[in-house]
Formats: sequence, structure tokens, C-alpha cells
Amino acid sequence: MQINVTDQNGKRHELEAIEGWQIMEIIRDYGLPIKAECGGSCCCATCHVYVTGDWLDKLYPMRDDEDDMLDETFDREDNSRLSCQLIMSEELDGIELTLSDGARP
Ligand code: FES
Repeated sequence: MQINVTDQNGKRHELEAIEGWQIMEIIRDYGLPIKAECGGSCCCATCHVYVTGDWLDKLYPMRDDEDDMLDETFDREDNSRLSCQLIMSEELDGIELTLSDGARP
């Protein structure tokens, strides 16, 4: 499985992904610039990503706590999600994401 991540400088990275892992963990383990300050507890929003196109519809709907955290960011868009709340699965194989500026360490 693979995820495709564009960093804040516009460089695209193809990352091998493991089922059941938070997408934030995969991005962080590859050393890409994601702060993920709270370690995946949905209480910092420094793992904020933008989900490309139709991939958004394949994700579980966001819970209220994720929605609330995203509301506190300055750069929220319609396709914003917190990557610690996205769990890797076969359905997400090939997903395209872009790291937000707010995720920069
Ligand atoms: S790592 Fe803190 S909200 Fe995702």
C-alpha cells in the first residue's frame, strides 16, 4: 500500500503505508515536515492535511472533536482533515494528500 504526500515546498513523496496505522504516523516516520505535536490525540491540529479530489469521499466522516480542532486553524479548507484521525486501510491505497503550512515543525 502507498500514500502520496506533497510537502509544503510542493515536492511529492510516495510512501509505503501499513494498514491500521494513522496516516500521520506514516508521514512522520518518513521524516516529512509534520509537527503532530500531540502525538495523535486530536488535540493540536499540527497534523493538518488537504485531501485531494475524490479521496475525500472514501474517508470516514470526521467526528466533532476533529471538526473543532480544524476550526482553530487559520488555513482550513473544505478538504481539510487531521491526518492522525485517518487510519490506513486498503481502500485508501494511493491516497493523495498535501501537508498544510500549519503542520510545519
Ligand atoms: S497529531 Fe495532534 S491533532 Fe493530530
